Amino acid sequence: MAPEINLIDPDAYQRGGPPYEAFAWLRGHDPVFWHAIGGEPGWPGFWAVTRHADVARVSRHAELFSSAERLCLFGEIPEPQIELQRLMMLNMDPPQHTRQRAFVNRGFTPRMIGRLEEHIAQICHALLDEVREAGRADFVTEIAAPLPLWVICELVGAPVEDRHRLFELSNLLIGSADPEFQIRPKAQQDAAAEIYAYGAALAERRRAAPADDIITRLLRPDSNGEALTSDEFDLFFLLLTVAGNETTRNAAAGGMLALF
Ligand code: HEM
Repeated sequence: MAPEINLIDPDAYQRGGPPYEAFAWLRGHDPVFWHAIGGEPGWPGFWAVTRHADVARVSRHAELFSSAERLCLFGEIPEPQIELQRLMMLNMDPPQHTRQRAFVNRGFTPRMIGRLEEHIAQICHALLDEVREAGRADFVTEIAAPLPLWVICELVGAPVEDRHRLFELSNLLIGSADPEFQIRPKAQQDAAAEIYAYGAALAERRRAAPADDIITRLLRPDSNGEALTSDEFDLFFLLLTVAGNETTRNAAAGGMLALF
């Protein structure tokens, strides 16, 4: 018999981790499944595509499976907000996506990342020293979360003392459905606006005083004299603070759990 399929219930993930059995059942019985339940009121549902070959096909055919048309988000949002979201790389199709990716690739070359390696090791040592002094630690909040955040601050040239604020903001931004982060109405929009403004200020600093860093490279015009617009840059910064933090924090925490 088919199990109850709900791939997006946060409580289910908290209780039992990822619903591997449901995914396995879907791959075997219903690999393109209409996921109608589980969302908030007015939520439109989505197609859960669970076989590797199908996921690869969807990813490669933007002309059929657009990231821009209704964005990469679950919910439906008003058209003016959709317009703004389409300036973010995650919600673009080619040729805009290809263009923006080319800008971003300049900052993330093996050389630029390689230069960070030693420094990232130092950050790990510093975090471990802190918890060693205390004699005990919560791995998620004291190591898995601050490590990527600290590295991203370094990547973008943000002062390290700002990292706690950026951490709070990135949690508010992605935690809109999490009661722990529902500290006040509109907290999510306010956090987005603050990160956006923070990115703009960083770009301003780098435009005035270019450095040999990723931000400076992102802002530099290409050989045709074209550059990212301010909105594009600020939204990329916002994407980076979210995309680079939550994913890596969960990967490190999950990895440690598996090791235990
Ligand atoms: C374990 C770590 C990570 C996982 C599992 C992960 C996962 C993903 C996935 C699945 C996507 C594609 C979303 C889609 O198809 O629409 C994506 C996109 C993206 N991620 Fe990550 N990510 C990780 C780490 C990072 C880090 C460290 C950064 C930045 C420092 C980052 C920045 C981005 C950006 C900018 C995009 C958009 C790319 C584009 O539209 O071309 N991610 N990530």
